[in-house]
Amino acid sequence: MSLIVWTDSLSVGISSIDEQHKVLIKIINDLNEAMESNETDAIMKEIFQRLSDYTHVHFKYEEDLFDEYGYEESPAHKAQHEALICTLNDLKQKLDSGEHKIGIEVMQFLNRWLTDHIMKTDHAYTKFLQEKGVE
Ligand SMILES: [Fe+2]
Ligand SMILES: [Fe+2]
Repeated sequence: MSLIVWTDSLSVGISSIDEQHKVLIKIINDLNEAMESNETDAIMKEIFQRLSDYTHVHFKYEEDLFDEYGYEESPAHKAQHEALICTLNDLKQKLDSGEHKIGIEVMQFLNRWLTDHIMKTDHAYTKFLQEKGVE
């Protein structure tokens, strides 16, 4: 079952970024489906790694735009990105050591984090980046 369903309310009005958010949602949904069908640890770790890798790619894309155009809210926004990266690194260590498994709480955390971040923090840059001609 899909945990997160894309709706237009998630759109930040910048198509390159919407496409990246859709990729992140797809990976989180893949992870959720793997959890529900009791996939092996190796498969769970592989999907989690994809989530971690693509999160880095996406955050860098946003942050490069902030730097390029001098976005005022950049420090607070980057701090939120940084906090999630720390949490993902921490989770990865726990998964690797077998101390933790991906369960409903982890999936709910990822779901809430991503949708809240898109709806509040990412939406805040829409007007600024659109005015700079970012598509
Ligand atoms: Fe984003
Ligand atoms: Fe962001």
